[in-house]
Amino acid sequence: MCGIFGYIGSKKALPRLMEGLHRLEYRGYDSAGVALLHDGRIWTHRRVGRVIQLERTLNEPPDSRTGIAHTRWATHGGITEDNAHPHLDTEGRIAVVHNGIIENMTTLRAQLEKEGVVFRSETDSEVLPHLIRHFYRGNPLEAVNSALQEVRGSYGIAVLFADHPDCIVAARNGSPLVVGLGDGETVIASDPQPVVAHTRRVVYLEDREIALVTADDIELQRLDGTAVNTEVEVISGDYDVADQRGYPHFMLKEIHEQPEAIERCLRGRIQEEEGNARLGGLNMTPRDLLQVNSVTNVACGTAYHAGLVGAMAIEALARIPARAEIASEYRHRRPIVSPDTLFFAISQSGETADTLGAVQEIRLKGGHCMGVVNVVGSTIARECGAGTYVYAGPEVAVASTKAFTSQVTALLLFTLMLARTRNLSLGEGRRVARVLKEMPSKVAEYLQRPGPIDEATAVVRDAPYVLFLGRGFSYAAALEGALKLKEIAYVACEAYPAGEMKHGPIAMLEEGTPVLVVAPRDDQRDKAISNMKEVQARGARLIVVHTAGDDEVAALADVAIPVPPVPYWASPLVTVLPLQLLAYQTGLALGRDIDRPRNLAKSVTVE
Ligand code: F6R
Repeated sequence: MCGIFGYIGSKKALPRLMEGLHRLEYRGYDSAGVALLHDGRIWTHRRVGRVIQLERTLNEPPDSRTGIAHTRWATHGGITEDNAHPHLDTEGRIAVVHNGIIENMTTLRAQLEKEGVVFRSETDSEVLPHLIRHFYRGNPLEAVNSALQEVRGSYGIAVLFADHPDCIVAARNGSPLVVGLGDGETVIASDPQPVVAHTRRVVYLEDREIALVTADDIELQRLDGTAVNTEVEVISGDYDVADQRGYPHFMLKEIHEQPEAIERCLRGRIQEEEGNARLGGLNMTPRDLLQVNSVTNVACGTAYHAGLVGAMAIEALARIPARAEIASEYRHRRPIVSPDTLFFAISQSGETADTLGAVQEIRLKGGHCMGVVNVVGSTIARECGAGTYVYAGPEVAVASTKAFTSQVTALLLFTLMLARTRNLSLGEGRRVARVLKEMPSKVAEYLQRPGPIDEATAVVRDAPYVLFLGRGFSYAAALEGALKLKEIAYVACEAYPAGEMKHGPIAMLEEGTPVLVVAPRDDQRDKAISNMKEVQARGARLIVVHTAGDDEVAALADVAIPVPPVPYWASPLVTVLPLQLLAYQTGLALGRDIDRPRNLAKSVTVE
């Protein structure tokens, strides 16, 4: 989490730093700060709250051409001005912005305190300027390098020295950092999004690399002192700042962008005649596919839910074992990695620390891991080396919506490829391909007539607890719906496999408890009907997402929301839509900050 931006060049630094922070704000938005070099001194300004608060309170900033800035997502230490970055050494001659976690901060802090350092914040990050000062003998690169030898943990940092107005030192270990090489200016950022406003020529720092950055150069080396061949890449992804296109919130806009996002994900990838698909980035021949004996999807949050759908589709259509794993659990539990398993790391941002950690663990154990990623050039995409982009376009709202449906779409394309090397006939393959091709219009059809979302909102908005139920593919949709309602509306809820309800959660039901059942017309529908009757018998108020025309299910519900008919393996692509809208409308009704919900950040780059 946290966004870092640095600027050195011939233009005014401050407006560029602010613009950079605005673009990085999705990474964290508890507090923000800036440090500028001017006349041999470091000027800083920090504020609790959004970047806009920082900007509004800037009082007579110096006219500087060099600076660093930060937008924070608190880990160590509360949300206060003292804990906001940049942090300074005692004399205020060294300023640091940091993204990551210093794991041995207690030991380092104690050592520095023994030397007389008085800490001004509760953060782990503040050890860095003091430690760098401890090693500083006039050479910025050497001082930062020596300090980082003492540090355990993850970091992306940018460091200013009052004595050296002509450089910024940057280093990375586990938290991404990219340097953009412009025309007489150089920028440093946590990800490529704010860099493209300046240049598309970039250098991605790798772990344990340190860079001395000037207005027209970058000198890169490893922390062990060995030289690095600086590879300049030209990035081509779509990093334009998304605008709200007249929608009141990015979340609503992104929900409505799903038809075009799915369309983009499918474009050029469906082979209708052959009843097949092609994901070029996987670089797999049919023979390679045939050698895959199982698939494991690793991911977090919404991406994990997409992974569940993908795994179920692979088992159902390609008939090989497949599962989804929560990345933070998987990476730490001594996983068994076999060479004939294909792993997918699914991630919108491509920066999620736990997913990245799982990728590294899988690769270290000799496993074959590919990315299913939205942000082009992101760390997970580059770490995997191969995979597929989902092309959902920039997702700005913290709650993931169009990334989910695009991830599911990409995984269904892969399922078709895999299934065609196994038991899926030409005719069946063509039918699957046709269904996929029709998905954008099915999604658009629903979004044009979303059904009684207002009525459903009235049922859940003041409820102390909401239970989401679903079976099979619909369980994954229920999980995603409950996650959205928690994130956006802060309504207490949970999702359960409907069959598991009677083993515990049924005890939560009382007169009027809202129960949302995802029950499209599939071969689990009849069992879902029994579950609906069970909850109704306990006085629950029933909201049901059902297939349009399924009057029997609709008649059972207090609020019935129809979605277009699609085959069971594609059903989450439509059943999730009313759940996204329900979370949105409920958040709105409760006055929540829809695009920036409390305590969250778009990109979770810490463990
Ligand atoms: C939910 C949400 C999160 C993310 C999760 C993984 O709306 O956005 O649960 O899905 O943090 O993020 P990525 O996909 O960037 O790895």
